[in-house]
Amino acid sequence: MRPAQPSYQSGFANHHASEALPGALPEGQNSPQRCPYGLYAEQLSGSAFTAPRQRNLRSWLYRIRPSVVQSAYHPLADSDWVTAPSADAAADPNQMRWDPRPLPEGGVDFIDGLLTLAVNGDASAQQGCGVHVYAINRSMEQRFLYDADGELLIVPQQGALRLRTELGELRVAPGEIGLIPRGVKFQVRLEDDAAARGYVCENYGAPFELPGLGPIGANGLANPRDFLTPVAAYEDIDGDFELVARFAGRLWASRLAHSPLDVVAWHGNYAPFKYDLARFNTINTVSFDHPDPSIFTVLTSPSDTPGTANIDFVIFPPRWMVAEDTFRPPYFHRNLMSEFMGLVHGEYDAKAEGFLPGGASLHNAMSPHGPDAETFEQASHAELAPQYQGNTLAFMFESRYVFRTTSAARQAPFRQADYVDVWAGLASHFTPEHR
Ligand SMILES: [Fe+2]
Repeated sequence: MRPAQPSYQSGFANHHASEALPGALPEGQNSPQRCPYGLYAEQLSGSAFTAPRQRNLRSWLYRIRPSVVQSAYHPLADSDWVTAPSADAAADPNQMRWDPRPLPEGGVDFIDGLLTLAVNGDASAQQGCGVHVYAINRSMEQRFLYDADGELLIVPQQGALRLRTELGELRVAPGEIGLIPRGVKFQVRLEDDAAARGYVCENYGAPFELPGLGPIGANGLANPRDFLTPVAAYEDIDGDFELVARFAGRLWASRLAHSPLDVVAWHGNYAPFKYDLARFNTINTVSFDHPDPSIFTVLTSPSDTPGTANIDFVIFPPRWMVAEDTFRPPYFHRNLMSEFMGLVHGEYDAKAEGFLPGGASLHNAMSPHGPDAETFEQASHAELAPQYQGNTLAFMFESRYVFRTTSAARQAPFRQADYVDVWAGLASHFTPEHR
């Protein structure tokens, strides 16, 4: 009952309804005395029961066995996956940059292939996030994962993934993102068994939502209908399965004698989704200067302070540059917010070299950053004709909380030791005798 190619339903946090067998959804109620086809009803809540209606997230799952049919949890050995707060994670004002993480030797799946670069906040307090890179070459077969600490925003950089979830399947390729809500069971399979690499934002805080549009109006940026949620798909398989839970910063394992992907029908607004970043309706200046990069916000996880995000997911997509009499690359700046950046493909317009697809950079609160010396020189003298910047897809996880890097990130052989030197060539051009 699981499809060769996934099918999708459109809309952001919509109340979807999907059944893999006709009539599997109970009519007119959630929990009848006996569910159709002998299924069990189980509610999955992604918000407090009493969250305001517009932020209330839950789905009803109709499954072959309820989730409680599993063994006790046993802790697994620690991996390279780190959760905040962590004694291993240290705050550092230095600007940092990393080359792409090498692909692994031997068989490494998504759980074992996650390496944390930075964390902030406190997962148990539902604040902050973890920033990971994955480098994998093996599909999860008998193994499944759910994350009680946060939702997982997956940004593939190389190789497509099949995210097989309780609520159906998502195929997510580079240039797209996938989101697994907190608690949803899933496994990651490689498309065509090709090795894969990418980034993960593990969001401990409020679930990602679409940003408000203000004076932009009703349309633009990421449009709700371009978010795709899977249709119900189940497998009824007996065997020996491992269900791994990420819980309070540790991995725990439980055994099941059946596949946990046994949801025959579901309805509700708490579900995985994918989004093609090429669908982002990019808005920018048509006169002069820069809007702040918040104009490129795809998704935002709000904090308790309005306008000051737990995390914003921001992209720098292909776009026209038309600003007149303007220094067009990203400006020099210092920021209350902390910025972690990655590059899916192409080049980023603030850096002439050194920021590579699969690489990353970190500019923590108030640490200065901006274009390198070569980019400054070129952009200061460039002909300002309309220019299409087509070969680029960078992104940023921007947070109000300072990122603390892991020892693995600080000591990684693929960390660039000399990153700060990219700005060393920015000489004084000050001429007090000439305006
Ligand atoms: Fe910045």
